Amino acid sequence: MANMVLPENVEGSQNGAGVGGAVQAGGAAPVANILQSGRGAAVSQAASSAGSSAGLRGLHAHPEPLDGCADAPSSQQPPALCALVTGATGGIGRELCAQLARECGTLALVGRDRGKLEELAKDLVERFDVDTHVFVADFAQPGAVDALASQVQAANLQVETLVNNAGFGYDAPFAESSLERQRALVQTNDMALMELCHAFAPGMAARGHGGILNVASVAGFVPGPYMSTYYASKAFVQSFSSALHMELRPHGVHVTALCPGPVRTPFWDNADAGGTALARMTISAPRVARAAIRALGCNRLLCCPGVLAKFIVFGSRFVPRAWAAVAASALQKPKR
Ligand SMILES: NC(=O)c1ccc[n+]([C@@H]2O[C@H](COP(=O)([O-])OP(=O)(O)OC[C@H]3O[C@@H](n4cnc5c(N)ncnc54)[C@H](OP(=O)(O)O)[C@@H]3O)[C@@H](O)[C@H]2O)c1
Repeated sequence: MANMVLPENVEGSQNGAGVGGAVQAGGAAPVANILQSGRGAAVSQAASSAGSSAGLRGLHAHPEPLDGCADAPSSQQPPALCALVTGATGGIGRELCAQLARECGTLALVGRDRGKLEELAKDLVERFDVDTHVFVADFAQPGAVDALASQVQAANLQVETLVNNAGFGYDAPFAESSLERQRALVQTNDMALMELCHAFAPGMAARGHGGILNVASVAGFVPGPYMSTYYASKAFVQSFSSALHMELRPHGVHVTALCPGPVRTPFWDNADAGGTALARMTISAPRVARAAIRALGCNRLLCCPGVLAKFIVFGSRFVPRAWAAVAASALQKPKR
């Protein structure tokens, strides 16, 4: 990865300086170097015993099983370091996988549809020559994260990079909406994300390196009439991630909240929001994924790719919440 900070990161902050913080050219570092889940590291930790890769230093520091960590090695074989991506089958998730595959040797792909996951895994293997592991999980179901963490451990994988990307929206007047769908949204967008961080952050902190990319949204900065629960769910992700960023920084663990504006993916149709004004202001998923992985490598607090996202996040500091709600309402109102 080039040591260059591109415009997508201009609004981000380096080491928690906040949105709009100074950009340090040359500050970007490869995720593989910083998170120590580089290709050489991920091929086999066995190589680490020879001390041949600088990327494996952290593992030498903690070769023993980490009791109580969800990704503690379950067998005598040293675990393979991996990047775990939830919502891997989606528009942004697929692109994040492709970006990570350039730097990580092993990917754990998580989604609800085994067929789509296997098709994605095949594509990644062909394009990037990576190892892939497929895990099926529906995060709307309580207990899904515990089951996933057990499967990851059973597969003898150690999560060095966690990408919490799975999520969905729901565009409907709240009073007329389905409570079941609202519950599933909070469970998926917030509860599962928090539980995944809780499952894998302790191991990262104990080893002294790792990275967590939580996919929030510009929606987390303003109230969102007609998508009220979705906007609130992303406010949780954004606030939670900023707090984790500060807590885990002294332990060498990077935490970045990705806050895109509208992105061209199936998200909008899945949210019944395909006809809204916001759905027509999109940027591309590859652009978002590139910016996100760069930002995680630099341990930026926030990554807000695209002009609209920067404008919303920066402007939300100065605009009264009532005005922001009026604007979001106009952009978000279902066109039915
Ligand atoms: N697109 C945007 O404009 C935009 C803007 C800001 C933030 N975001 C956020 O970006 C993330 C990815 O969205 P996207 O645009 O790529 O949408 P997408 O194409 O609809 O992908 C969503 C992904 O999340 C998975 N998912 C949904 N519900 C799930 C559940 N209950 N359990 C497990 N996985 C589940 C989907 O799996 P299946 O393949 O099984 O459906 C899919 O892989 C979301 O968190 C979203 O809120 C999107």
